[in-house]
Amino acid sequence: MSQEQSKDMIIVKGLCKSFNGVPVLKDLDATIRRGEIVSIVGPSGAGKSTFLRCLNLLETPDSGTILVDGENAEEMDVRFLRRKMGMVFQQFNLFPHLSALENIMSAPTTLLKESKEKAEEHALDLLEKVGLAGKAWAFPWELSGGQQQRVAIARALAMRPEIMLFDEPTSALDPTMVNEVLGVIRSLADESGMTMAIVTHEMRFARDVSDRVFYMDQGVVYEEGSAEDIFERPKRERTRAFIRRVDTIRFELDKDFDYFGFDAKIDDFAMKHLVEQERRELLVRLIEGLFDNFFFLKVDELVFTLGITEKKDVELRFMYGGPECNPLLVKEASEDAASYFVRSIIEQNKLEAEFNVIDGKNVMEFVLLASS
Ligand SMILES: Nc1ncnc2c1ncn2[C@@H]1O[C@H](COP(=O)(O)OP(=O)(O)O)[C@@H](O)[C@H]1O
Ligand SMILES: [Mg+2]
Repeated sequence: MSQEQSKDMIIVKGLCKSFNGVPVLKDLDATIRRGEIVSIVGPSGAGKSTFLRCLNLLETPDSGTILVDGENAEEMDVRFLRRKMGMVFQQFNLFPHLSALENIMSAPTTLLKESKEKAEEHALDLLEKVGLAGKAWAFPWELSGGQQQRVAIARALAMRPEIMLFDEPTSALDPTMVNEVLGVIRSLADESGMTMAIVTHEMRFARDVSDRVFYMDQGVVYEEGSAEDIFERPKRERTRAFIRRVDTIRFELDKDFDYFGFDAKIDDFAMKHLVEQERRELLVRLIEGLFDNFFFLKVDELVFTLGITEKKDVELRFMYGGPECNPLLVKEASEDAASYFVRSIIEQNKLEAEFNVIDGKNVMEFVLLASS
């Protein structure tokens, strides 16, 4: 172990990854320095999760190299690699039949062969660190989402990793619980000297906590810089467009989607951003119309993102699978009634609309301008 520690903890070169022939990571280069806190932001579908998953070989890269602490990740013992690199996901995935304490002790006792006493002592310290000292014997179902995610963080820390990867750790949480989890990550970042990569939609958090920010778009790190560079003076066009959105809310819809309360969530989000009543009503009507007449008929899988820009423009982005389907091209109701409906909605309301195919997915975007 006489090897001198380089300042770079992770060096990624030319990373490519496709799923079913569709490229998701396209020759991605990135470097994360030792002890650095990097936030990764960008639109859904950009490849952020795939990037993190390649780092600890949850996905096998098609080509390119990943050096972790000077070693080629693909040549490392995968158990060793994952021990070095803890990961926290959007879904906490705690073992339901184990208490918080047992969840945290599980990997150290089985994989690291730590003694029970030692593992328990460490687990109790970690529970205290994440603000859950009193919850050692609680089962996951007795804990709130925020508490479960804090246990998941403690569980990852129990392996004493040098690197922590977070993939949208607060996206599955009720808004009231986001801050308690961000607070834990923030204190880790402040004190530990650990190297961290955090995929997040929480822009204020990213701005505060990061040494550097990666803006990912269409399978590459499209722009990187200090938090100030990226948030205050982004240089490239797509970064700018992304950053001027002050907030977004995102829905993943499948066949089991709970439509009940959906309208209220959209209205609350728009109200929170002081969108006036008239435009809020229009927004809800539009979305209802699009779902009833188009999405429910046409698609099985949809990611819907609603964004608000600084100017209070409302941006709607629908990303859906299936064959290419661009409603903007349909001229007559007889061609395709559902698509024609979308087109008429756009014309009646004078919306700015755009359609693209990105990585094999249909992406339709509308803007409801603040002045209209
Ligand atoms: N296991 C997989 N199989 C097929 N497609 C996948 C898989 N994982 C991700 N994808 C696709 O890759 C693209 C990028 O996904 P992802 O890395 O999750 O993006 P992000 O995290 O930025 O939203 C998406 O179009 C997604 O559907
Ligand atoms: Mg993701």
